[in-house]
Amino acid sequence: MADLIAPSILSADFARLGEEVDNVLKAGADIVHFDVMDNHFVPNLTIGPLVCEALRKHGVTADIDVHLMVEPVDRIIPDFAKAGASYITFHPEASRHIDRSLQMIRDLGCKSGLVFNPATPLSHLEHVLDKVDMILLMSVNPGFGGQSFIPSALDKLRQARKIIDNSGFDIRLEIDGGVKVDNIREIKAAGADTFVAGSAIFSQPDYKKVIDEMRAEMAK
Ligand code: DX5
Ligand code: ZN
Repeated sequence: MADLIAPSILSADFARLGEEVDNVLKAGADIVHFDVMDNHFVPNLTIGPLVCEALRKHGVTADIDVHLMVEPVDRIIPDFAKAGASYITFHPEASRHIDRSLQMIRDLGCKSGLVFNPATPLSHLEHVLDKVDMILLMSVNPGFGGQSFIPSALDKLRQARKIIDNSGFDIRLEIDGGVKVDNIREIKAAGADTFVAGSAIFSQPDYKKVIDEMRAEMAK
């Protein structure tokens, strides 16, 4: 599976969002990571389906990877599917019926995923592996960009990698939080294939330079 760089637009300039997304994709990013926060499941408030739809209308054709940090999830899933989401992932704590929410995402034509906070066990995967297209491991506690990578996420990545490889299913393993040029190599070595990076990319003036450096690190 090809490695994907997924810039988190949480750290983009929201006043110029369309242009920012165009620029980061032109700079070599693969997919757009779209953080949805509700000031309830996490202590922050961001963007919803209208913004996803606006990016599609603006002409964004890359996959949009919608990370739901909202509770409950079932009411908002159809709105994101309609708005042009490619992946829709949610936290198991935010759904009373995980199997139903995953199935709903697929039935609406999107790719589904479960997100694990640093302290959330991977055991939630046990009975739904066949309904998951992406496993997203948080390497920070969700809510804000610019936090430091929590080292225990590396062990968890190795565990998740084993689960995926043993399953035989085609499942992406995404990591989110504190990913930088100087740690992306060990994160990849631990088993990730999809790398969310917000502040590491958008805090720099030259997005292409950062993305090229990330790819060079991963090729080492
Ligand atoms: C945190 C979000 C992340 C965040 C990552 O709740 O899920 O996607 O934007 O930001 P960085 O890369 O700055 O840690
Ligand atoms: Zn995220």
